[in-house]
Amino acid sequence: MVQRTLSIVKPDAVKKNAVGAVIRCFEDAGLRVAALKMLHLSAEEAGRFYVVHRERPFYKDLTSFMSEGPIAVLVLEGPDAIARVRKIMGATNPRDAAPGTIRALYAENIERNAVHGSDSEGSAGYEIPFFFPEIEIH
Ligand code: CMP
Repeated sequence: MVQRTLSIVKPDAVKKNAVGAVIRCFEDAGLRVAALKMLHLSAEEAGRFYVVHRERPFYKDLTSFMSEGPIAVLVLEGPDAIARVRKIMGATNPRDAAPGTIRALYAENIERNAVHGSDSEGSAGYEIPFFFPEIEIH
């Protein structure tokens, strides 16, 4: 099934000049970039994006990290895009990420983990319109 998913190149990876490298990984796997932009979230905006994690102990740190610098956000499209993007990213904790995955290559730790990808159709349905109106998705 052709799906759309939301991915973020997080502030740590943008600082490392890895925006292109991350997008290359997705494109090389056959995913299509359907939307793309950069922005610098406020802590409040990052908190709304990650609202499902608001009760977690790492929530405040996460919103502060995600607002420390610019991010690149993209919509990726393709067959089984949600699961495939998660596989290409690797495990949340880079210590557990398979060799060659984006997190194995670029993540620093479980929080500063380089990249985000929607974890389900439900979250993609919240996350894509959080950043992109339909007119900006191609
Ligand atoms: P992401 O896939 O964007 O989804 C939620 C984010 O919270 C996750 O990547 C990490 O950046 C962060 N995160 C998840 N678990 C932890 C944890 N145990 N400690 C700190 N940060 C975490």
